[in-house]
Amino acid sequence: LPTFPLDVRGRPLRDLRLSVIEACNFRCPYCMPADRVPDDYGFDSATRLSFDEIETLVRGFAQLGVHKLRLTGGEPLLRKNLPVLIQRLARIPGLDDIALTTNGSLLAGQARALREAGLGRITVSLDAMDPVRYREMTGGRGEIADALAGIEAAGAAGFESIKINCVVERGINDDQVLPLVSHFRGTGHVVRFIEFMDVGTCNDWSRDRVVPSAELRDRIAARWPLRALEANYRGEVASRYAFEDGQGEVGFVSSVSAPFCGDCHRARVSADGRLYTCLFAGDGQDLRPALSQGVDALRERVANVWTRRGDRYSEMRGGAGASRRHVEMFLIGG
Ligand code: GTP
Ligand code: 5AD
Ligand code: SF4
Ligand code: SF4
Repeated sequence: LPTFPLDVRGRPLRDLRLSVIEACNFRCPYCMPADRVPDDYGFDSATRLSFDEIETLVRGFAQLGVHKLRLTGGEPLLRKNLPVLIQRLARIPGLDDIALTTNGSLLAGQARALREAGLGRITVSLDAMDPVRYREMTGGRGEIADALAGIEAAGAAGFESIKINCVVERGINDDQVLPLVSHFRGTGHVVRFIEFMDVGTCNDWSRDRVVPSAELRDRIAARWPLRALEANYRGEVASRYAFEDGQGEVGFVSSVSAPFCGDCHRARVSADGRLYTCLFAGDGQDLRPALSQGVDALRERVANVWTRRGDRYSEMRGGAGASRRHVEMFLIGG
């Protein structure tokens, strides 16, 4: 097997999105609605990879060409001693970017420890500015004051250019778009609007509730003129726009209206050690047996799966050949 495997479409493996926990303290209706995932759903910490296993796994992926690692959940800050894990991962040769996607509710208390452990970047999910709407968007569990305090604390701990992710659903929270832009413009943080996606099996997705990014961009530009920016790197997920008045930038993730599978270099691993080669994959590949034999076996197993990968779900959405069974979003962290 080659050192740096390419999939059947010639795409290298460059990014790893690793879930450290499948549980979450929120119940966002588009991800983990409380009626589908009740509190007694049966999350079991015993199924999660240990820190030793995670370190071996990430070493293996780094040897295959992964240079960018994103820790996700569920809610990753619920994983005990996460800074200890980050400290171990930050030492792995080849990784030059370690990021975290969090709902922000527990961030204020952990930001400094995460920074000291070597975390590079933070993304916070925030779907509304209005406190009541925010609570609804989190399934009645979140307080916007906590998320804002988390962002504040992360800034104070040295995280720069924090990304704020907002999933937009028509008729649900699209009236929150301008308030979000207004709040974060000029702060150095970057708001990104994400088209509501048909991930998982819980959210009763319909195309009517997707607000195409072009529409949002025009709405924002009518108030604050925008100028398109070049991608930071090939395969960047968000398209970026600068405010003409120099007050920063906004981004759009348009996986429904403008799929970006052609440059998809991402692998995902769930907290229980299954490899998913697409956000919309049905089944994962269990990496645990290989992992128990050490880093060489793990590397070989992953390379084997990757060289057979042909996923491009967003380009086929709804068409013949598009998979119908989808892994839950909260198992692979988006
Ligand atoms: P950067 O490293 O800052 O560029 O982050 P990112 O934009 O890759 O990651 P983030 O976790 O912030 O993801 C933003 C949104 O894009 C989330 O809703 C993800 O689920 C979605 N997303 C990320 N990667 C993919 C992908 O490969 N396919 C699809 N369809 N959506 C993706
Ligand atoms: N569509 C789009 N984005 C989603 N996310 C979770 N569920 C969906 C969905 N159905 C987002 C989260 C988080 C990111 C990792 O994925 O809000 O910001
Ligand atoms: Fe939790 Fe994130 Fe899913 Fe919301 S989107 S329920 S915060 S994992
Ligand atoms: Fe990659 Fe699948 Fe997303 Fe396409 S739909 S960009 S293949 S994860």
